[in-house]
Amino acid sequence: MPTYNLKINGKTHAVDTDADTPLLWVLRDKINLVGTKFGCGIGQCGACTVHVDGTAMRSCLLQVSQAENVEITTIEGLSEDGSHPVQEAWKTVDVPQCGYCQAGQIMTASAFLNENPNPSQQEIRDAMNGNICRCASYNSIEEAVKLASEKLS
Ligand code: FES
Ligand code: FES
Repeated sequence: MPTYNLKINGKTHAVDTDADTPLLWVLRDKINLVGTKFGCGIGQCGACTVHVDGTAMRSCLLQVSQAENVEITTIEGLSEDGSHPVQEAWKTVDVPQCGYCQAGQIMTASAFLNENPNPSQQEIRDAMNGNICRCASYNSIEEAVKLASEKLS
């Protein structure tokens, strides 16, 4: 079984696994970074979103063999203590209901705001559109992204 050296949250992890193992399984089962969630496994829900070189990507669709030589950030690495402006805004607005989708929502929002720190309501809606929330916390999510953008811009 080949070994892959993955840079995750600033640390290098050597992982023995098959080349086509999804990064999501590696994060959860090999490295115990379980903040990243499994929702659909086919790129449709956003629960598994991480940053790859700063871009939001679905970790269920990324094979481990494609994940070397890039910087991967998970929800655990976004900040040490939950103090990232997006996390603070999430707490202020009290967004989560069951919470299952929220790590993916926050990872999508934070990558989006890095690219567009002063978005319109429609741009926020479009950016967050692919992240499903079964508890329908969409209004709160939009409000929190707007609040975070005000802190960042
Ligand atoms: Fe990856 Fe749903 S688990 S998009
Ligand atoms: Fe429950 Fe989004 S808060 S799925």
